[in-house]
Amino acid sequence: MSAPRDRLRIAVQKSGRLAETSLDLLRRAGLSFRASRDRLFLFGDNLPIDVLLVRDDDIPGLLREGSCELGMVGRNVLDEQSLATPGVVFPKVVSTLGFGRCHLAIAVPQEMPWGSPADLEGLRIATSYPALLAAWLAREGVAAEVVTLNGSVEIAPRLGKADVICDLVSTGATLQANQLREVATVLDSEAVLARTPRALSPLLAELAERLQARIDGALSGAQ
Ligand code: PRP
Ligand code: MG
Ligand code: ZN
Repeated sequence: MSAPRDRLRIAVQKSGRLAETSLDLLRRAGLSFRASRDRLFLFGDNLPIDVLLVRDDDIPGLLREGSCELGMVGRNVLDEQSLATPGVVFPKVVSTLGFGRCHLAIAVPQEMPWGSPADLEGLRIATSYPALLAAWLAREGVAAEVVTLNGSVEIAPRLGKADVICDLVSTGATLQANQLREVATVLDSEAVLARTPRALSPLLAELAERLQARIDGALSGAQ
């Protein structure tokens, strides 16, 4: 085993909807960084806290295995992965961060009539969130086929790969550009601060508490 770390690590999204705001929040919490050449690791200048810039889908796993102590991630990503792997202990949400609000929604072609979720019976639904969608369909008592795609879900109906989609909606621009309309909400989401489920050394536990308090302070100062 390697020596225990003496610097805290927080994982944030490298690029995408949460990336810039996550780093801004860390700066508002009083952290300053030096970027490595590859820009994947930000070395904390004023506190023993470093930032890892990663794909958002990797953040729950990094927290679970203890490669990072804290992470800023969408509730949608966290919930999807914990539903998809039952029995595994998942990171705990310690704060909601007040940005990155969006929802996971069912969207159908503009011209398709819509009455209720029962209208999805027997249809093919494209999504990158198969576990969240399957759980919602089960709650609604609807049998539909879940078609899992890693991206470009919104073009699946036009490609004939699916009849409707279940995807994240933020401004609604993507749906509009693809002549889709939102008809039902599967999950409301926003960015959260999540913490590893692993026990921390006293030093890392103290740093995690300090950073959580600083982030909470920056959030309340913003209101
Ligand atoms: C989501 C979603 C849509 C878009 C919707 O993708 O898959 O493509 O955002 O946002 P809008 O309503 O503002 O148009 P995201 O940016 O999370 O990227 P990813 O799917 O590649 O992770
Ligand atoms: Mg993503
Ligand atoms: Zn909406």
